[in-house]
Amino acid sequence: MKIQGVPNPGDGLRLHLNENTGGCSPRVIEAIRTLTPTDISAYPDYKKAVLTCAEYFQVNPEELLLTNGLDEGILMVALANFGRAYDPEQEAIIPVPAFDPYLTATAAVGAKVIRVPPGPNFAFPVDEVITAISAKTRLIFLNTPNNPTGQIIPHQIIRRVIDAAPQATVLVDEAYVEFANGSFLDELSQHSNVVLGRTFSKAYGMAGMRIGCLIAKPETIDPIRKVIPIFNMNVVAITAMQAAVKDQSFLPAYTAEVKESRQRLYEACRRLDLEYWESSANFVLVRVGKLAPKVVATLDTRGIHVRDRSQDPYSPGCIRITAGVLSHTDEAIKALEANVSSGLIETRGAL
Ligand SMILES: Cc1ncc(COP(=O)(O)O)c(C=O)c1O
Repeated sequence: MKIQGVPNPGDGLRLHLNENTGGCSPRVIEAIRTLTPTDISAYPDYKKAVLTCAEYFQVNPEELLLTNGLDEGILMVALANFGRAYDPEQEAIIPVPAFDPYLTATAAVGAKVIRVPPGPNFAFPVDEVITAISAKTRLIFLNTPNNPTGQIIPHQIIRRVIDAAPQATVLVDEAYVEFANGSFLDELSQHSNVVLGRTFSKAYGMAGMRIGCLIAKPETIDPIRKVIPIFNMNVVAITAMQAAVKDQSFLPAYTAEVKESRQRLYEACRRLDLEYWESSANFVLVRVGKLAPKVVATLDTRGIHVRDRSQDPYSPGCIRITAGVLSHTDEAIKALEANVSSGLIETRGAL
């Protein structure tokens, strides 16, 4: 039986979807409690939410669109770029490994996917991406930090791609930027072919709310405004977002914890002789060998849910582990140790 959404792994630690497993700011819960029956019965008024969010990101309100998760933003960018003048020869460039919805959104609007494989150690393949750009290119997905590798794309490289594709839209997906150094937001006003994507699902701990946003110059965001559902956000989500951005202390405390968690995971991987890649996001990609699906299943039975990335040809033998709440990371490390001891995980030496 096919059921909507991603299968729920059941009880245990959810280290498979890069959520904030510590929860959201308490101020979000307080704000939601203030909602009245008529707040719920009325269609939402987005004006205050857009103004608050725009002020938070220091952009003009006409440059920002709230979206039902960044997932919706990704689909709307694809729809705005390919949907109206349907032409199956038009292309989206997707550096891989990549967040799956780039591929599904491109397929959903009937455009062609051009995959560009990574360089050694997941280095961003800038020359190959630029070579792949043609008159048919309508959209380029840049994800920094990248899911699933955690690698960033330096701003000068983003600029090179943008300049090489003036006829295309470049979506810079910064879903995990709060865990890294430096957003591309400050440069956005210099580029008219760039849309920046942000989300409140990750660092802000509000994945269940489904709220993100797209930011771009008015002339770039207007075609997306035309295709997005008119009441795409619910009143609980916009109330939650407005409370979240007012809590100044939540983000620094959590991002510091993520950094410490990453360090603990790196240290454990070095001690256990496992290949890993230093990450600028709230997860770490670790190579566990050809039995990766079995490793994931064994961790599941211990109530530690991690993401199997081993079936992706660009991350063979790899799993992705969310690095957040320290005690959760410690549990994950214990489970990795047990799997190394039992021989299920192949160490670097054995690979
Ligand atoms: C790279 C990337 N972009 C976008 C999203 C979507 O986030 P949201 O929960 O806001 O839809 C995710 C979620 O996992 C992601 O990893």
